Amino acid sequence: MQIINTSDGSHTIYLPEIEEQYHSVNGAITESNYVYIDRGFKYHPAKNPVIFEAGFGTGLNCLLTAVEAEKEKRKTLYFTIEKFPLSKTITSQLNFGLLISPKAQTLFNQIHDCIWNEVVTISDYFSLKKIKADLIDFSFEGHKKFDVIYFDAFGPDKQPDMWTPLIFNKISKATEIGGILVTYSAKGEVRRQLTASGFKMERLPGPPGKNQMLRGIKKEAKI
Ligand SMILES: C[S@@+](CC[C@H](N)C(=O)[O-])C[C@H]1O[C@@H](n2cnc3c(N)ncnc32)[C@H](O)[C@@H]1O
Repeated sequence: MQIINTSDGSHTIYLPEIEEQYHSVNGAITESNYVYIDRGFKYHPAKNPVIFEAGFGTGLNCLLTAVEAEKEKRKTLYFTIEKFPLSKTITSQLNFGLLISPKAQTLFNQIHDCIWNEVVTISDYFSLKKIKADLIDFSFEGHKKFDVIYFDAFGPDKQPDMWTPLIFNKISKATEIGGILVTYSAKGEVRRQLTASGFKMERLPGPPGKNQMLRGIKKEAKI
């Protein structure tokens, strides 16, 4: 596992065994803001959104959402799942807070230091539950419904078992009608599977280095 610099100066993590990064090498903060914050969080009209993130990773999406929630004064409840939490040795070296603001650095530390598997109040506008589990066999039965999904697994070519009808169907079931799903992937197969799971999908221009990304709106309880 290596910490590397991306084009906008922000860090990401490179995993040599699967030759995959946690974010785009064309800018981790840039990509995360573009895909998840601008086309996900900011796009959804809910005053108090409930968010689900597939793949907590470095906590970057989580941090940027906490920062934006404060800025917009939207009380946000954020659920995120992670099978392989990063060590403190790694997360304490990441430069996201440093690049954003001292306040963001404090939020980043709180986000990483808080307990797993419990809802924790991070700030006036941001509560977080980090779920330490495998998304593949995780059940959303009885779970609070989501308004916004950040689907941020490793790429479908690198980790195909995270991009399956099984996973998309259970996420769809756990999403409010009118809820939205955003992902950096623009693969045709992903779009087709999400459509079959009840999302009306659209292709949007992608972040730097990517032609397209996907956004879906939950239309119907098909499954
Ligand atoms: C692209 S990275 C996520 C980046 C993250 N959203 C961020 O802001 O840094 C994908 C994440 O999915 C996690 N992951 C892989 N397989 C998983 C599984 N079966 N269940 C839950 N998380 C998984 C990885 O450990 C990794 O942290």
